[in-house]
Amino acid sequence: MSALANQKILLGVTGGIAVYKSAMLLRALLEAGAEVRVAMTAAAQTFVTPLTFQALSGRPIHTELLDPAAEAAMGHIELARWADLILIAPVSADFMARLSVGMANDLLSAICLATTAPIALAPAMNRQMWLNPATQENVQRLTARGLLIWGPAEGVQACGESGPGRMLEPEALLDQVSAHFAGGALAGVKVVLTAGSTREPIDPVRFISNRSSGKMGFALAAALRRLGAEVVLVAGPVALATPAGVQRIDVETAQEMQLAVSEQLAGCDIFVGVAAVADYRPREIAQQKIKKQQTVMTLELERNPDILADVAAAEDPPFTVGFAAETQNVKAYAEEKRRAKRIDLIAANRVAAAEGGFERDENALTLLWEGGGESLPMMLKSELAARLAARIAERYHARTQQENS
Ligand code: PMT
Repeated sequence: MSALANQKILLGVTGGIAVYKSAMLLRALLEAGAEVRVAMTAAAQTFVTPLTFQALSGRPIHTELLDPAAEAAMGHIELARWADLILIAPVSADFMARLSVGMANDLLSAICLATTAPIALAPAMNRQMWLNPATQENVQRLTARGLLIWGPAEGVQACGESGPGRMLEPEALLDQVSAHFAGGALAGVKVVLTAGSTREPIDPVRFISNRSSGKMGFALAAALRRLGAEVVLVAGPVALATPAGVQRIDVETAQEMQLAVSEQLAGCDIFVGVAAVADYRPREIAQQKIKKQQTVMTLELERNPDILADVAAAEDPPFTVGFAAETQNVKAYAEEKRRAKRIDLIAANRVAAAEGGFERDENALTLLWEGGGESLPMMLKSELAARLAARIAERYHARTQQENS
């Protein structure tokens, strides 16, 4: 049975171009078995009329603070008591500001003030509005009060700018809601995850590295955390903020990464290698900056440890997830890697220059595990991470169940 069966969700809709996605979200929630009622602000109704939501849900839409049709004419109290979860998607910067100071000047804000149910917000706004210190202060204040903030995703926005502020896609929000009602599919599970590149020094100012930005790994760390896991993120040198609730250990070289991982393996249930670890390092590190005297120079390299393979080869290995970065024969090479390194699940991506993988905000993955697989098409890394995290949780529990039976 779906984790959402018979759960009562009040879907709040505030003003923004992303309102059309809430209609898709409503349908997805209903299909997953939830009971859904919808409350719209006046601004939301300027983008999509209540009729659309009424037609999809088969119920009247709540728009007025004082509703003569409601028992005792206090619709906000009835709805506040009815809901098991209030999900506001999209939530605008203005609505978050009003929530943060406890205003109750329309139906939806009054419901939020009157409820004891958890409230989840899926922000959608222009990236500058999201990054504005006023909005960020409101987010912090709301988070401190226990409200859940789901998203926003990064990417191209309706205003033509690119950056954080897009509402999570309906599928990703459905994953979040499911995980919420499942009590966090990874509650009590320890995950160790590597992300970013490594740097292998040549001399005090030069190093060998690669294009990994850490975006995929950081997004996955955040998604696993949202499923309730205790997440330790071993990060190479990247310029990204640590996801909320995640413990981060910064390293530079592959050997440092291996040491940090080995120190975290006690009690580790799931290991995920997203990092693009340098396979080789210079045999000698020059103590002083190398002078350009020769026209041709040879650098002698030696193999770095394979962190993922070592974790999978441990005596009592955690559930092990690897990534495969390939430029051709993606599926076949990834399956070879999965078998050779004896890992439980591999996420393969094409990293040809034009198609991405590295650095970009979007990616596509082919997931392979013993006896199964799934293709996740091109989407934002934040959304891809939510889908992959859900699959990791599902495969991890399947293996645990098999071991215990
Ligand atoms: O960081 P981004 O810019 O967002 O880009 C994301 C990504 C392209 C880096 C990511 O999606 C990805 O593919 N990560 C794995 C990159 C890689 O090194 O792939 P590989 O096929 O060379 O390695 C296979 C697996 O072994 C990986 O899980 C890797 O972490 C692991 N490995 C590899 C070498 C090594 N010495 N130790 C390892 O643990």
